[in-house]
Amino acid sequence: MNPLLLVEDLAVEFKTRLGKFCAPDGVTFSVFESECVGLVGESGSGKSVTALAIMGLLAKNARVARGRILFDGVDITSGNDHPRGKKMSMVFQNPLNSLNPNMKIGQQLCEVLEENFKMGKEEARKRVIETMAKLGIPEAEKMLERYPFEYSGGMRQRAMIAMAMLCEPKLLIADEPTTALDVTIQAQIMRLFKQLKSSSRTSILFISHDLSVVSQIADRIIVMYAGKICEISPAKQLFEDPLHPYTQGLIASVPNLKRKGSKLHSIEGNVPSLLDPPSGCRFHPRCNKKLEVCSRQEPPEVQMKDRIVKCWLYEKAGI
Ligand SMILES: Nc1ncnc2c1ncn2[C@@H]1O[C@H](COP(=O)(O)OP(=O)(O)OP(=O)(O)O)[C@@H](O)[C@H]1O
Ligand SMILES: [Mg+2]
Repeated sequence: MNPLLLVEDLAVEFKTRLGKFCAPDGVTFSVFESECVGLVGESGSGKSVTALAIMGLLAKNARVARGRILFDGVDITSGNDHPRGKKMSMVFQNPLNSLNPNMKIGQQLCEVLEENFKMGKEEARKRVIETMAKLGIPEAEKMLERYPFEYSGGMRQRAMIAMAMLCEPKLLIADEPTTALDVTIQAQIMRLFKQLKSSSRTSILFISHDLSVVSQIADRIIVMYAGKICEISPAKQLFEDPLHPYTQGLIASVPNLKRKGSKLHSIEGNVPSLLDPPSGCRFHPRCNKKLEVCSRQEPPEVQMKDRIVKCWLYEKAGI
């Protein structure tokens, strides 16, 4: 089966005052139809930049330096003729940044359909009301007439998800969609994503720095560290038997996930600067299982059945 999305050896280079660096730096993964893939990693590991590269929305000082992105079999790396807004859409962490404060929500949502699909006003309005109702926005007709500031945080995020789902995308990228919300609202939005996952064929790339959030929804999980992928595993196996020492550390630091009542563990040290990353495996300065080779050479990518781990510990375990 061909994946819906294939990201191959993707490296995005930034030019900054302090110098050049890459984040992500050579990541390879795929997302299949109807699949929900979680992307986790500490702050600054390159999750959002990976998402923006897929969406063709990189900042001016960034460029794809290596690799390619295939969507539905088509190379979209250049960003030209991009399927964004038609077959692919994205929900961001802060809905206020992506909504126009001076325009009624209804008008903003209808415009998506009018502009991208040349839909007539009446038809667009009907579709918007249907989608909003589906996403749990009560009294959708009345809510259309309101401005973003008149919505609560949770309702605004629902409106953003509605906007992203209007085009019935093949791929929805959700970048920390619950991080800015209160805990109770977070749970409601997670329920909404789970409902979307089971009721539509849309594939989801779900990004979070919080493994416990991703574990609620993802079929497969990609773990990133300092611009590189450490491990890709089906979610269940990742929790039951994490392979990479970084994944093991992440899981040990999630409260209540396995060891109820036991002490919370956190990974010592800090995420390295990408301007001057550690040699060899970027995780080696914080790794409690490091070998002599780890500081010298980048680890190989080891495929173990349906899992991938990039770590010297598994060099001979590949199947
Ligand atoms: N426009 C930019 N100019 C310079 N550096 C940038 C820019 N955008 C991102 N970066 C840097 O690229 C690296 C990866 O950033 P990215 O936003 O992808 O991290 P992230 O994994 O999404 O983290 P978070 O959990 O904080 O959202 C970081 O070091 C970040 O500072
Ligand atoms: Mg981010």
